[in-house]
Order: sequence, then structure tokens, then C-alpha cells
Amino acid sequence: MQKESEIKVSSIYKGKHSKGDKFTQNHYLILEELNSGVFKVLKLNKSTAGVRQNKTLIAALPFNFKAGGCAFYSDELAIENIKHNSLLAEDPVEISAAEFDKILRDIVKFTAGIHYSCITAKKKSSYIPVSGKIDNKELSKMIDSSLDMWLTTGRFENEFRDKLTKFLNVKYSAIVNSGSSANLLAIAALTSEELKDRRLKSGDEIITIAAGFPTTIAPIIQNNLIPVFVDAKIPSYNIDESQIERAVTSKTKAIFAAHTLGNPFNIEAVTKIAEKYNLWVIEDNCDALGSKYNGKHTGTFGDISTFSFYPAHHITSGEGGAVCMRKADLYKIILSLRDWGRDCWCDTGKDNSCRRRFTQQFGHLPAGYDHKYVYSRLGYNLKMTDWQAAIGSAQADKLNNFIKKRKHNFNYLYSKLKKFENNLILPESEKHAEPCWFGFPITTRKNTDKFGLVKFLEDNGIGTRQLFAGNILKQPVFTQNHFKLRILDSKFLYSNKLNSGDYSKLPNTDRIMTSTFWLGVFPGLTDGNFDYIADKFREYFNKV
Ligand SMILES: Cc1ncc(COP(=O)(O)O)c(C=O)c1O
Repeated sequence: MQKESEIKVSSIYKGKHSKGDKFTQNHYLILEELNSGVFKVLKLNKSTAGVRQNKTLIAALPFNFKAGGCAFYSDELAIENIKHNSLLAEDPVEISAAEFDKILRDIVKFTAGIHYSCITAKKKSSYIPVSGKIDNKELSKMIDSSLDMWLTTGRFENEFRDKLTKFLNVKYSAIVNSGSSANLLAIAALTSEELKDRRLKSGDEIITIAAGFPTTIAPIIQNNLIPVFVDAKIPSYNIDESQIERAVTSKTKAIFAAHTLGNPFNIEAVTKIAEKYNLWVIEDNCDALGSKYNGKHTGTFGDISTFSFYPAHHITSGEGGAVCMRKADLYKIILSLRDWGRDCWCDTGKDNSCRRRFTQQFGHLPAGYDHKYVYSRLGYNLKMTDWQAAIGSAQADKLNNFIKKRKHNFNYLYSKLKKFENNLILPESEKHAEPCWFGFPITTRKNTDKFGLVKFLEDNGIGTRQLFAGNILKQPVFTQNHFKLRILDSKFLYSNKLNSGDYSKLPNTDRIMTSTFWLGVFPGLTDGNFDYIADKFREYFNKV
């Protein structure tokens, strides 16, 4: 437990306390409601803590003041501990509603901050996880969002969206509730009638890979489109661009590929092919926020790009995601699909942004039907709540540091594992790529059993992950369902009828399933963690 004297008051009342004032438990104060709207501020000390805890609030306050129709009076004991307090006066000082709001927010955040420091942050585990969590900065924003009591998308979503848009230097971003939702929206948007002859129609084909995350593939099938699989490369784990043209037919309309584990795929080659055959490019950038290609952020090259803020990712919002694009028409479609398919584009909670709310006529609806309730697409509701966005916004402020630390961690781990290259294939990036790695992928060589190694690492407290679905074509969802697909230049195949000859067309994908796993490089890990990990690899190889 942190010593009481170490808890500083600096997070509240800046300018009212001199910097470095210590705040111990003996100085916490409690508000007691004398009668409705009149509070007495009492000192809380250890002996009274138990008695007083069930009263209103433990906190530090400026005294005496009036706000929001309430009066606050301090007792003498309390006053003697509050120095430099400009609000200290015999008669209560009237303060503005905004200042009162801020004071109360600060109190809650201050108390929560103490809880974070003394309780949450002290929960230690010897396990080395692949991903990390949030701290008091996010907690503070979550409290702000809770106190707003705005239950849906709101001011924090706008703040988070603007930070992301600025960071990426992209034209449009739509915040959504997961990376999977982002992928679903990307594909669904491209099926929109408004895109005329470029729209994806039932039976059109999308080129992708089978070694990856399930919800990169799922929206293709969910939208009655046909996935066409090419192999992945080892050790970049990305789409093998040299195979794409072999898979193109007159039905091919898009390439949908992820920057695997943060490693940018060969964007130059993919873009060239897409231009040649007039294909859409969708970048699944869910694992790659902060990665660059030719000096530009990944997620800014494709027609549409998607992001995930699931806790393991470069930044998190709990659950969350985003869709980014350059073109206004796609942005409009994506917002509409995200928000129930509505025609109106007012921000949540706003009305009549177009000033024509009651003066238009749509479909066969009566003239003047409220535009807020006009639906022009078959939509979803994939919005992010403001609580999630508050976390995302606080995380976005840390992104540049996270990127630096991930890069350091990757390089450090690489230097430590290099000596095991007789047993392990270490990851490689593409030319022109500057990855911000999500994880550190490793493929075991023929002399090493992945499953034995993974079990040994896990038994020694080192978190490991599979490269998601491995070979998704071998997952039950594919073997148990009759999904139409193609592999490279094959004719149509059905997922529950694939045979070893079909699977053998994607040898690296199978190898990823049997021999690849990854370790975390998230910013919470230290050189010491990686030294330990390397020691355990050595121990394993000495043993087997
Ligand atoms: C490449 C990739 N795409 C999509 C997703 C889905 O993101 P979410 O978990 O936010 O739905 C993930 C999840 O980790 C992913 O790694």
C-alpha cells in the first residue's frame, strides 16, 4: 500500500494549494447534508472514517461556498487544513455552476485516483501478458463521461474522432463500436446502390487471405460476396501480392487485406494491381495504428480503412473501432449505415442541422415527414458510447509514446531472440514499411514443435497468442458451412467440401496455423520482461 504521505493533492485545485502539498487520510473531508441543500463539511480522520463513510462523500473542498442552490459550511477542523484557499471566507461565496461542476468532478476524480493508485495499480501479477491496460488518465475521463450522463455517442466521441483524424491526417473518420463493425461497414458501404457500376453486387469477388482474423472475412460472406483466397507470406504474414493477379476474374471488385500484427503489407504492389483492374482497396488496419508505409500512416492508402480499439490494440476504448476514408460519398453512406440507415446526418442529440427537417419529401412518405425519421438504407446501430470514447480520447493523447515504446520493445525482443534463429523464424517487414508492431510473430522451424514451446512459455508465465484463426478455412465455421469461395485461380469451391488438394494451394497459411504464434510488445512491458522471455527460450532449447 502506498504511504499516505505520498498521495499528492496536485491533481486538484491547481493554484489554490501550493505545489507539493501533501494530503493524508487525516485531511480527507466528508460532506454531511444537514438538511436539503445545506451541507456541513467535516473533517474525516481514521477514527471517524468508519462512521462517516456512509455519509455523502469523502473529498477535499474549498469552503465556504454556495452553488447550485446549495450552501456548504466547513467546521473549524476542516478549515485549518485548507491553506491558500481563495474561497475561504466567513460568509459563503457564490460560485458559478460551471465552477461547482468542475469542483465536484475533481473531487470524484481525486478520490478515484487514490483508489487507482492504492488499489487498482497495486494488483500485480507475475504473468507477462500480450496486452496492457489503462490508467488514471482514462479513469478520469470515464468519470467525466459518467457525470455527463450522456448515454450514447456525444462530446467525447467527437473529441476522439477529431484526434484520430488529425493523427492520421485523413479526411473522414467514423467512430464505431468495434473493429469488426468497422469491417462490416466497409464492405456493406461498398454494396450501396449510390456507387452505381462500382457497387459490389451479390456474387462479386473479394481477394483476401485465410491467415488472419475472422471478421476480416465474415463481412464478405455476410454481404453475399465471394472470398477468393491467396496465400500469406512468411515471415511478413501478409498477403502475397505476387499471387493476386492470378486470382483476378471479371467478378473481382476489391482487395481486402490486413496489415498483419501491425506489419504493413506491400501497399505499392497492391495499389498498382487495384488500379490496373479498377478494384477497391480496403485496409484492415485494426492491428496497425501508428505503422507507416513510404512515410505515411497505414490506414490512409485504401479507399476505406478500418481500426480496432479492443484492449489489446495500440490504443483502446474498451470495445471500439473506426472507419476512415477520403471520399465524402463513402463517409455519408458509412455514417448512415452506422446510424440505423437514416437519411439525416445530424450528430446524435442534434436536430435540424440541414434546416430542412420538416420541408422535404422522401419515398412515398407525406411531404414534410420529419427527416430525422427517414431511412434510405438498410442500416445497423454500430455507434460507440461516450464512455468508450472518453477512454479512447485519453488513450489517443498517449499514442505517440505508445508507438515509441512498442518499436523499442519489438527491437529489443528481436535482438534477444536473434540467437535462436536455428529454431525460430523471426518477423520481417516489407520494403518501405515502418511497422508499429501489435505483436511479435514467430514461426518455429521444422526442428521445433510450436505447441511444446508455447506450452512451456505459458507454464512460465509468458503470454502467447495464435495468429488468430491460423487457416480460417480449417475452422469449424468453414468446415460446417457451405460457403462459396475460390482459392487462387480455382473454380468455385464450397467450404465444407474442401479437400487436401485445395488446402495445399495455401501452404504458408497452413504453416502459420501449425507453426506460428506471437508474443506481446505492448508498452507496459520492460526490457526485464524480455530478458526473462529470452532466458526461457534458452532454457527450452537446452531442454529439448
Ligand atoms: C486484423 C483484425 N481485424 C479485425 C479485428 C476485429 O476487431 P474487434 O475485436 O475490435 O472487433 C481484429 C481484432 O483484434 C483484428 O486483429
